[in-house]
Amino acid sequence: MTEWTPDARELADLELLLSGAYAPLTGFLTSAEVESVVERGRLPGGTSWPDPITIALPDEFGPGDRVTLRDPEGAAVAVLTVVERDGHHAAGPVEALDVPAYGPFARLRRRPEEVRKDLPDGEVLAVTMRGPLDGATLDDVAATAEELDAAVLLMPLVFGEGGPAVVRAALKAAERLPGATVVAVPLAPREDTEIDLELREHVARNYGATEHYAGPAPISIPGPPHKRGLVVFFTGLSGSGKSTIARGLRDALLERGGRTVTYLDGDVVRRMLSAGLTFSREDRDRNIRRIGFVAAEVARHGGLAICAPIAPYAATRDEVRAMVEEVGGDFLLVHVATPLEECERRDRKGLYAKARAGLIPEFTGISDPYEEPEDADLVLDTTDMTIDRAVGAVLNLVTSGGWVR
Ligand code: ADX
Repeated sequence: MTEWTPDARELADLELLLSGAYAPLTGFLTSAEVESVVERGRLPGGTSWPDPITIALPDEFGPGDRVTLRDPEGAAVAVLTVVERDGHHAAGPVEALDVPAYGPFARLRRRPEEVRKDLPDGEVLAVTMRGPLDGATLDDVAATAEELDAAVLLMPLVFGEGGPAVVRAALKAAERLPGATVVAVPLAPREDTEIDLELREHVARNYGATEHYAGPAPISIPGPPHKRGLVVFFTGLSGSGKSTIARGLRDALLERGGRTVTYLDGDVVRRMLSAGLTFSREDRDRNIRRIGFVAAEVARHGGLAICAPIAPYAATRDEVRAMVEEVGGDFLLVHVATPLEECERRDRKGLYAKARAGLIPEFTGISDPYEEPEDADLVLDTTDMTIDRAVGAVLNLVTSGGWVR
């Protein structure tokens, strides 16, 4: 394999490396590069610098490899020449192949070089924004610009779902700052606030700033739970009662009204979305990711999705949780923990008998693993529990959290 699709943060960094916004950096950092950059004193606090501009690559890529980096839609964006590996991370210079597909406000995604040319000579006050500026801040920016006789450069930092909203906030702020320039910059936030600030400042300077003002972090006020997306994800062995409880939950929610429900049953998904997939670990993971993808889309639009696959692997369940949370949805994991002995005793589909007889290979619980969740929001053992009570318990979880009124 000579190609790879980086994740969203890595692609954002790639764009900044290619546009010159990270200059003098021209690639994902090597340890030597870090040292020389630090020695030249360009980046204060350089020891923490390498962490943020990294790319994780599978182990098969080694020094000397030229890797084509593609965006999620398949466009070849750049070539990375690997010069060093450090654990999962690879370092090396990148060369642009194609102009990336920018999405909303593409016209405001301008290169530093071009922006610097347009700015008047003299002082430039850059404001990096992750959220709207309130009236007092705007007055402050206007006063500082006047004092310094500086041009104003508003830099909405666009990354993820909130990107377009930040640009709209910047365009609105520009109405109150006559002559201000707006440039959208795909700088992903860093957890370490010092590093985050360092990166903002560095990028702002490359865009021509002589002064930098870091706009406040957005106060994210998530909508009320009954308007937020929700994914109720059931996991458990075949025959544990997942589907029965999941269907009961769907019906109960539909009877109450107030929310739309998408039901992604394991067996139904296997016939539709995942037709042709086997029960190998790879295919099970594919199956769960597909379910996660659809459920996250439902959640993105504020809907409620109920999923009920076996989902035997913890890491894959975690991925789905992350996919849902990334789009602002909530995720509830319900472990239907009916023990194997009970599932096998019931053997409604006759599959356990076949699996025991060696007729079904890789059968979960018999000849294939099931990793018990440690992060379940609710655990139900249906051995001595009626369906109504089990459904009631899930419904109680959903209503007590405010997702359903
Ligand atoms: S998962 O592992 O990918 O999450 P999924 O929920 O889609 O599994 O499918 C499980 C259903 O497929 C079971 O309820 C059972 O009816 C059927 N099945 C067929 N072969 C297997 C197998 N090897 N392991 C588990 N379930 C199987």
